[in-house]
Amino acid sequence: MKALYKSGPYAGFELVERPEPTTGVRDVKIKVHTTGLCGTDLHIQAWDAWAAETINAPLIAGHEFYGEVVEIGSDVRDVKLGDKVSGEGHVVCGMCRNCRAGRRHMCINTISVGVQRDGAFAEFVVIPESNVWVHKDPSITPELGAIFDPLGNAVHTALSFGLVGEDVLVTGAGPIGLMAVAVARHAGARKIAITDVSEPRLAMAAAMGADLAVNVATTRLKDAQLQLGMCEGFDIGLEMSGHPTALPEMIDNMNHGGRIAMLGLPSESIDINWGKVVTHMLTLKGIYGREMFETWYAMSAMLSSNPVLRAAVASVVTDVLPATEWEQAFEIARSGRGGKVVLGWSVFS
Ligand SMILES: NC(=O)c1ccc[n+]([C@@H]2O[C@H](COP(=O)([O-])OP(=O)(O)OC[C@H]3O[C@@H](n4cnc5c(N)ncnc54)[C@H](O)[C@@H]3O)[C@@H](O)[C@H]2O)c1
Ligand SMILES: [Zn+2]
Ligand SMILES: [Zn+2]
Repeated sequence: MKALYKSGPYAGFELVERPEPTTGVRDVKIKVHTTGLCGTDLHIQAWDAWAAETINAPLIAGHEFYGEVVEIGSDVRDVKLGDKVSGEGHVVCGMCRNCRAGRRHMCINTISVGVQRDGAFAEFVVIPESNVWVHKDPSITPELGAIFDPLGNAVHTALSFGLVGEDVLVTGAGPIGLMAVAVARHAGARKIAITDVSEPRLAMAAAMGADLAVNVATTRLKDAQLQLGMCEGFDIGLEMSGHPTALPEMIDNMNHGGRIAMLGLPSESIDINWGKVVTHMLTLKGIYGREMFETWYAMSAMLSSNPVLRAAVASVVTDVLPATEWEQAFEIARSGRGGKVVLGWSVFS
């Protein structure tokens, strides 16, 4: 099969012929139709310090995908040949305390598809049946199916605190921040503001249902609050930039008792005003991955029941290229100007 392969511990990928993955008794083999490009993949391509520490090369990267089931192991019970599926990329141990308590997203032995085991930048990928998510709704297109993983990050974060009637601040208008706005709107938020320093990304926010898109290179959130007619502060914060200045400014603009869910991964430690966290009784919650599998149920249910949300989420995919044009696709993703970049793998069949 053709695969985008990292042959060793250095920058770059090669589109080469590789052996097809073998299907264990509890595994499902998926013919990949589409894959999403994610910041993680850019790190793996560049082979930065994080990649060097985390990745075991050789590796086939890629963890955001949609495809069709073409082979099942002898112990697979529910997934069927021909099913259209996406996959949860966190493969858990099943035996640690959290796994056994049904909190698999908190497994201490998580292995990530496309990071610590071969992933989906290939014609075929194999994952355990328990990681497969079958799409029952035909309105889930291959492009939409390719972004269930990051949509799950947005849904997990946005739904971690009740936001009906609340004023919501999203920091970072990358694909995940944009989708979080759409989910917050669907879930019943009152005012929604989103921040970024990229004008093209901020321009996409209105279609997601944001009331205000704030360029924090030029405008302070205090002024943005006034523009929205707010006087006390945001009730819910969703940190989705990982940038070290976003969280401190968010904390300065929360109402007392405000709740903050943090998805953005900072690359350095962040200094915040802990006195304010204490005296304003703020709650800070870290978010990793998707809840297994409540987030997946919520994603499918919301997309199927609301065409407006489905159209907003679909519009986050701004570039679809055949896998043969992977280099250009990675350049577009790295530029950070558009939304999600998706690679098509049907080009080889
Ligand atoms: N916790 C998890 O499980 C998990 C999973 C996926 C992604 N992530 C992280 O979530 C974040 C969002 O993911 P993404 O794919 O949308 O990333 P992205 O890098 O495309 O988006 C981040 C955005 O933040 C913007 N930004 C930079 N400085 C800012 C500032 N001071 N204020 C506001 N915005 C600013 C950038 O311009 C960019 O548009 C990233 O940090 C990513 O690493 C975490
Ligand atoms: Zn990802
Ligand atoms: Zn476990």
